[in-house]
Amino acid sequence: MGQETITRAVNERYAKAVMTGEEMCCPTGYDHEDLQAFIPQAVLKVSYGCGTPVGLSTVQPGETVLDIGSGGGIDCFEASRRVGQTGRVIGIDMTDEMLALARTHAPTVAANLGYAASNVEFRKGQADAIPVEDGSVDLIVSNCVINLAPDKSNVFREMFRVVKPGGRFTISDIVADQPIPHYLLEDREKWGDCLSGALQWGAYWGNLRTAGFLGLHQVHMLPWRVIDGIHFLSVTLTGYKLPPHPPASTLRFATLQGPFRRVVDERGNEYIRGNPVSIESSTSHLLKSAPYTNHFVLSESPVTLTKEDSRWSAVFPDEAACIWEGHFALLTGPFLEVEDDDSHVFRCGDSHEICSKTLKVLRSKLYSSHFAIINRAQETISPQPGSCDVSGGCC
Ligand SMILES: C[S@@+](CC[C@H](N)C(=O)[O-])C[C@H]1O[C@@H](n2cnc3c(N)ncnc32)[C@H](O)[C@@H]1O
Repeated sequence: MGQETITRAVNERYAKAVMTGEEMCCPTGYDHEDLQAFIPQAVLKVSYGCGTPVGLSTVQPGETVLDIGSGGGIDCFEASRRVGQTGRVIGIDMTDEMLALARTHAPTVAANLGYAASNVEFRKGQADAIPVEDGSVDLIVSNCVINLAPDKSNVFREMFRVVKPGGRFTISDIVADQPIPHYLLEDREKWGDCLSGALQWGAYWGNLRTAGFLGLHQVHMLPWRVIDGIHFLSVTLTGYKLPPHPPASTLRFATLQGPFRRVVDERGNEYIRGNPVSIESSTSHLLKSAPYTNHFVLSESPVTLTKEDSRWSAVFPDEAACIWEGHFALLTGPFLEVEDDDSHVFRCGDSHEICSKTLKVLRSKLYSSHFAIINRAQETISPQPGSCDVSGGCC
């Protein structure tokens, strides 16, 4: 299907949804009671997101927030509350009916918030040609929209163009664990259902990185649907546009604390747990951002960590046989590559079959935020202990 056909199908689908108020898409994490206090029911009814707009929890008063695919305006109105009267919110959407609904209710929301005038503006536009000036936005949010855009690379390039140096994005979207086959790519209905346009995990991450974003990492993940063995996941992810020339840093060394034995950051620097590595100012700036910062000691002179140091961390597998139960792990950033204490190497975006012992390691508190874990076993299985070394080594 050509790009124009996809855009028309999606446009018609959402224009119809506004009229019928049908229920669509995926679980979100809103506190509806809280939102009802200032957002009209007509807006809440057409909430078609697929995640918790956690990005909004980082909003500071006075900031400028852009919502790509703002729909009925739910996230814009919540952003309006958080940025306060001195802040500004821009919602863009390509569907006239959605824009009309959002614009109708903007004055009511402003009055409910006690604002003299609305600080939200809804503009008509496409996600791959965002009608916003270069470098003017502090935070980009988007809730279940980018999968609907036929050309994601252009969307990510546009996001990078409009965000300020030092700005960030937090988006919720649908991704898949496998490439989408042609019979789904050619299905107009399933495009509108947020399925056919889902990118594979690695491609999504890769395109964001190519656009220039760094510090890419998953904030939240929910398995959503399985169709013909393809797992569709609702993910919320964050990334940063770092300033091109950050101020010089005196922190010239980084020592990996763990829990990984070895990692590679997004600039290609490799770190072995406990050993100091000399870093440039730009890398120091990157490693100060969350969640990198939780894994490193940054210092002015080299710091070596030993196992006895309280900052050293590791998670070892049980001394037991491996049992294969259909689990696969995907590294979700921000590292390009990590290695655990059993020599398993995980690369960002690749899925890796894991046994019960590794599953336990990756689900531990120190590891879990870096991985998405799915189970591909479709039928009832009879797992048997496998051939791992019971002294603790693993597959
Ligand atoms: C699934 S709804 C989500 C709406 C809103 N973010 C929410 O959470 O309720 C998708 C919205 O994105 C808009 N949309 C889809 N593709 C778009 C594109 N390429 N450019 C701009 N808007 C788009 C649709 O018109 C629709 O309002």
